Amino acid sequence: MPQSPPITSPSNARLTERLEQQRHRIDGKLTELLPGEDAPPSSIHRAMRYSLFAGGKRLRPALCLETSRMLADQPNPDMESIACTLELVHTYSLIHDDLPALDNDDFRRGKPTCHKVFGEAIAILAGDALLTLAFRVLSTLPESSADVCAALVAELSEAAGTVNGMIGGQVADLEAASESVTEHGLEYIHRSKTAALFRASVVMGGIAERAEPTQLSRLAHFGMTAGLAFQIVDDILDVESSTAALGKTAGKDAAQKKVTYPSFYGVERSRRMAQECLADAKSALDSFGDRAGILRDLADRLVFRTA
Ligand code: IPE
Ligand code: IPE
Ligand code: MG
Ligand code: MG
Ligand code: MG
Repeated sequence: MPQSPPITSPSNARLTERLEQQRHRIDGKLTELLPGEDAPPSSIHRAMRYSLFAGGKRLRPALCLETSRMLADQPNPDMESIACTLELVHTYSLIHDDLPALDNDDFRRGKPTCHKVFGEAIAILAGDALLTLAFRVLSTLPESSADVCAALVAELSEAAGTVNGMIGGQVADLEAASESVTEHGLEYIHRSKTAALFRASVVMGGIAERAEPTQLSRLAHFGMTAGLAFQIVDDILDVESSTAALGKTAGKDAAQKKVTYPSFYGVERSRRMAQECLADAKSALDSFGDRAGILRDLADRLVFRTA
């Protein structure tokens, strides 16, 4: 059977530069939002900063900022803080995902995992603290109205929660290893554990700019479908890439008998499914016209990536 081409990125220097600028903005705001390393109790503040600044791609905050830019010429002045809350929740989910009781991983973002450096107790608490800080930030946004703050809290807490959200997906992911899983069950895991936070990333950009309900539902479809593609590619990279390139242990899914797209469908079919999701996601942006150019490029980057 002829092999489809590997998932490699068409070079997009404009997007790479833009993501670099966004990363800079996000890292600056995260530095402001986090308690200083020396603030007591310093062990947890060091652990929070260690994981947060270990070198993530910052894709979720970038999606949030770009959604806001697509909708508004004068973005909500709280946009950077809002985008940071996605990174706080994402980094918490990674610290907990790596714990011995979950995936038991030693490397993350090219460094030893939080629990390897700070011990399990502090790693658990650092995750809890990042999650808690995210909601403190959203509930104290200086420039946003109470209804916008409440809607942002609702969207993020749903995406992180147990019903079709990240925690629900993580539970199903753990339980899938010992149960037989259907194709719907597998899609549920990926939509919940990963895609829900991608949905929140773009929907929160929309909420911050007071988008119409029809716009929010198109953004939600875009985020869910692009997020599903992202997790399928994460599974493929776990099979095909290296620990050095990923900054996290490659080959872990097979070693832990995880049910993934490649284990269920094979790599070639998984690649095609990711590309189908990508096309579906981008079609949800049609009504936004040319202003959605960067979001379309970002969606490509979620799929055509090497790390
Ligand atoms: C990793 O997400 C966890 C998944 C949901 C697959 P990323 O690949 O975005 O991780 P960082 O933030 O760049 O480290
Ligand atoms: C985790 O999925 C998704 C999260 C909610 C953190 P994985 O377990 O596949 O993520 P990696 O491969 O460890 O980053
Ligand atoms: Mg996991
Ligand atoms: Mg994992
Ligand atoms: Mg993975």
